[in-house]
Amino acid sequence: MSERIKEKEENLEPGEARSPYTSYTEYLGEDSKKLPDFMMEENYEFLGSEDISIERYTSKEFFKKEAECMWTRVWQFACRVEDIPEVGDSLVYDILDYSFLIVRSEENKIQAFYNSCLHRGRKLKTERGISKDLECPFHGYCWNLDGTLKHTPAAWDFPHVKAEEWSLPEVRVELWQGFVFINMDDNAVSLEEYLAPLPEHHERWNLADCKKVIHVSKVVPGNWKTVQEAFMEAFHATKIHPEILPFQADENARYDIYGDHMNRNLALVGKPGPHCWPVTEQEILDTISYGSGRVFDENKTVVPEGEEARKVAAEAARKAYSTADGHDYSDKSDAEMLDALVYNVFPNFSPWGGFPRNLIYRFRPNGTREDSAIMEAFFLQRNHKDPEKQEPYEPIPIHYLSEDENWDDAEELIGIGVIFDQDMSNIPEVERGMRASKKGTVTYANYQESRIRHYHQTIDKYISKGPFKP
Ligand code: FES
Ligand SMILES: [Fe+2]
Repeated sequence: MSERIKEKEENLEPGEARSPYTSYTEYLGEDSKKLPDFMMEENYEFLGSEDISIERYTSKEFFKKEAECMWTRVWQFACRVEDIPEVGDSLVYDILDYSFLIVRSEENKIQAFYNSCLHRGRKLKTERGISKDLECPFHGYCWNLDGTLKHTPAAWDFPHVKAEEWSLPEVRVELWQGFVFINMDDNAVSLEEYLAPLPEHHERWNLADCKKVIHVSKVVPGNWKTVQEAFMEAFHATKIHPEILPFQADENARYDIYGDHMNRNLALVGKPGPHCWPVTEQEILDTISYGSGRVFDENKTVVPEGEEARKVAAEAARKAYSTADGHDYSDKSDAEMLDALVYNVFPNFSPWGGFPRNLIYRFRPNGTREDSAIMEAFFLQRNHKDPEKQEPYEPIPIHYLSEDENWDDAEELIGIGVIFDQDMSNIPEVERGMRASKKGTVTYANYQESRIRHYHQTIDKYISKGPFKP
């Protein structure tokens, strides 16, 4: 360790924790283009360093509190608008014991209903499909797409059912950049207020101008937070993903916290992590191309003598994306072309920023199990600038991986499936190890694990409000 690093480390005040290595913000100062201010601005807040009880991950009681007090009150990403492009298209979004039917009821209107028949409670639908109305498969009660009652079977036997009182109960729906969100709490703040300042940051990346091209889902044997938190800090890369160290400056990453619901981790691509072995600029470039999940270099690019892999990679990305989608990236920063700009929205939605094909994660409990979660990975592809060159779009079926399949078995996840599998291999052992703990608590890093603490504090804020039943 150099003297400079040692000195930086020794002079930190408690709560001021920062990596002594070149920081992400310092690296941004070397960008070859102008960066938006919100990328430069740090927004870290010391949130304390108390231990966190392991019961928050393992106990059924705590899971029940999250279910009753938190999941019923938060905005949840249910689907993309392009999943249900035609009037009559619908799909099912399940969370815990709740199920919602998301329906395109008019060309420019999306509604969502509690997915439960008013007759004897059967789920109205179980999967994505298109229909002219919403008919229950059990006895044939039927509703119009807007939720008003259309047909009562054996109507003579239901004189007590008044059509005007038998519309399907709705759940709140709001949209942001092509993402459809639902919220069971009619008194919750608007989606825009809830997401702030995410919409402001994402404005220039405009994910509304993208379509979902990949959607893979997998059941993972761990608490939903254990799984999500595997994607909330970058410094596990040194041990779990050593092969990406040549291009991912993991311990140099930035962590920012905003309000109760948003945080982000910005991790540099194109410089080695501080614990990487010595690498050449060419080795850095070669590893970015196959290991970043954002492949853009099929023909091996050579880093000219005296130049930096990061700048060469960013320029190659600008050209490749521009050729592919017709947009002009010539003034876009290296950071926005390359880096892992991992935004999280509480409790479980993670839309990456930047201009490449954007990765989106969603994590939620698998039904009502505290020890099993569903993790999904989506990729959004930017539409071609010229509408005439846009391919006709067909909604992407979800690729469900069975329990014994790996992420890497999903061929569409080029490069990144292997990385996910490395994360996954850890999760059952975290679950088992937490249960075996004598200490009974986990201890978070002040800076690099601040986003995890942030979310736990927000969960506590919801729990302090008490149970809410929609
Ligand atoms: S349960 Fe739906 S029609 Fe009977
Ligand atoms: Fe990882």
